[in-house]
Amino acid sequence: MCGIVGYVGTDHAKEKIIDGLKRLEYRGYDSAGIALPINGKIQVQKAVGEIKNLEAKIASPDFDAPVGIGHTRWATHGKPTEINAHPHLNEEETVAIVHNGIIENYQEIREWLATEYGIKFKSETDSEVIAHLIGLFYNGDLLDAVNKAVAEMRGAYAIAAIAADEPDKIVAVRKDAPLIAGIGDGFNFIASDIPAVLKYVRDVYLIENNETVVLTKDEIVIYDENGNKVDREVYVVNWKADAADKADYDHYMLKEIHEQPAVISETLMSRLNPDDSIRLDDISLTKEDIDNINKIYIVACGTAYHAGLVGKMVIEKMAHIPVEIDVASEFRYRDTFIDDKTLFIAISQSGETLDTLAALRDAKDRGARILSVVNAVGSSIARESHDVFYTLAGPEVAVASTKAYTTQLICMYLIGLYMGSTKGTIDKEYYNYMLGELKALPAKVNKVIENEPVIKELAERYHYRDNVFFIGRGLDSGVSYEGSLKLKEISYIHSFAIAAGELKHGTIALMDSDTLVVALATQDKLYEKMVSNIVEVQARGARIIGLAKEGKTEIEKTSDEVIYIPQCADEVAPVLAVVPLQIFAYYVALEKGCNIDKPKNLAKSVTVE
Ligand code: F6R
Repeated sequence: MCGIVGYVGTDHAKEKIIDGLKRLEYRGYDSAGIALPINGKIQVQKAVGEIKNLEAKIASPDFDAPVGIGHTRWATHGKPTEINAHPHLNEEETVAIVHNGIIENYQEIREWLATEYGIKFKSETDSEVIAHLIGLFYNGDLLDAVNKAVAEMRGAYAIAAIAADEPDKIVAVRKDAPLIAGIGDGFNFIASDIPAVLKYVRDVYLIENNETVVLTKDEIVIYDENGNKVDREVYVVNWKADAADKADYDHYMLKEIHEQPAVISETLMSRLNPDDSIRLDDISLTKEDIDNINKIYIVACGTAYHAGLVGKMVIEKMAHIPVEIDVASEFRYRDTFIDDKTLFIAISQSGETLDTLAALRDAKDRGARILSVVNAVGSSIARESHDVFYTLAGPEVAVASTKAYTTQLICMYLIGLYMGSTKGTIDKEYYNYMLGELKALPAKVNKVIENEPVIKELAERYHYRDNVFFIGRGLDSGVSYEGSLKLKEISYIHSFAIAAGELKHGTIALMDSDTLVVALATQDKLYEKMVSNIVEVQARGARIIGLAKEGKTEIEKTSDEVIYIPQCADEVAPVLAVVPLQIFAYYVALEKGCNIDKPKNLAKSVTVE
């Protein structure tokens, strides 16, 4: 969704801001803009479409200053036009703001400003009211004006503001929308997310809800909602400098697929003690807490939900606790049975998905213990949970999630094993066997990736298909959903996932010689049943790409093509099975000439309902 970058220092702010905005492109946007205080005035430039359109407009050396704020906008209120793009100005053009989030009472404020003060609005956005409010309250002190403006607003926001009369300063504030401050030497940054500033700084402050920040080139001062100064610990980002770069890859998605062996290993090993016991030391679930839990809800959206589908089966198997799984947008509006014996697990890469966050808050209010599995450090979901299990996937830039998913799976296994061993529902032998299987995963994922040329060839052969079905049983059915989502979101091919045993209850009517079926058969105990399901669709003329473990060659008789993954325990097969599906989706989209890293209509972080 929208991205904010502000710079205050001695250098050309516009260059730093453009660089930061480009690094936030993955969040999705349809227009961009920048505001600089120049010679006692605020100057603004905006452009619809790609950031390069904005760059062309700000090339003039006259448009330059050592301070500025920039924004990429994802249209919510009002079309993606230049007028609706941020930054927005007050009428006198003395104050400029950029905003991420939604001002819920903007209509009310708009009417009030129009009737009381005769203010004429230029845009259709909710955000413009912020600029007018700050302008109205401005009396030479931007911090004071921002605080007064915020007191009038309801909703979610991260805001950065500059004033013509204080050209050496940025004031920012957040509530329910992400914001970080990057700490430089003689310069400072404000931004929506760490990748925006990673090229320039390693030390950041994670800004908390209802905090206001004043940035000058030498100082960052954080205030709580009562105006008291806050002493915030510096968070040192330990990602590699090129973590958010594309390196030699054509697309972030391919880079991130290839990063999976490393990030799986990191997520796993960071949680293991030398004696192979699982270390969840920053997670405060005691044996007593775990024994007290009689029900688990896993709630998430999209790919994270698909990780939860696997998580449900794994945790139920290992910890013998019933697990319900739901998409957050449904969970919020149904009657659920939550009390203080409920563990609520939220899974989210961004940690900002609004539906997941709202479901979490609801569950928390009703007494549930909240454990979140999150990738973005300091994000809202992480901050509002009792315990956080961070996936160490590093920045995921491609809109289509890959490495976040596989690291989420690792967390599911570790949670299952930890709870199971604490409760005594799994024995030492099984525990050791599973740990061995988990530790072997990075090398095995590497082997799957080495098979990329074969999968690419399949993608070239089948990319023209209009209808693709993904089928599987047990854990494979969960992975089918993810394979199907990957394909549809980046290649725009209609695809559908279904538990294979359910096919004959209706969906098989769609099978004919134009249909491509990707059949996952990695689960040993369901293998024969799965082969029977494949025979059923083959009999209707469908083309079949089978996916099985090495040595399970029976499937060749019923499939047109077979992709093999290394031998492994059934439980961990999802981690290996999903990788060929990611690669297949990638190359199908490439064949079709799609915008792989930024598919149409999608944003990386969905902060609206
Ligand atoms: C698909 C994808 C989305 C996200 C979903 C939840 O590739 O990335 O389906 O998984 O929007 O996002 P997070 O995990 O950030 O809560």
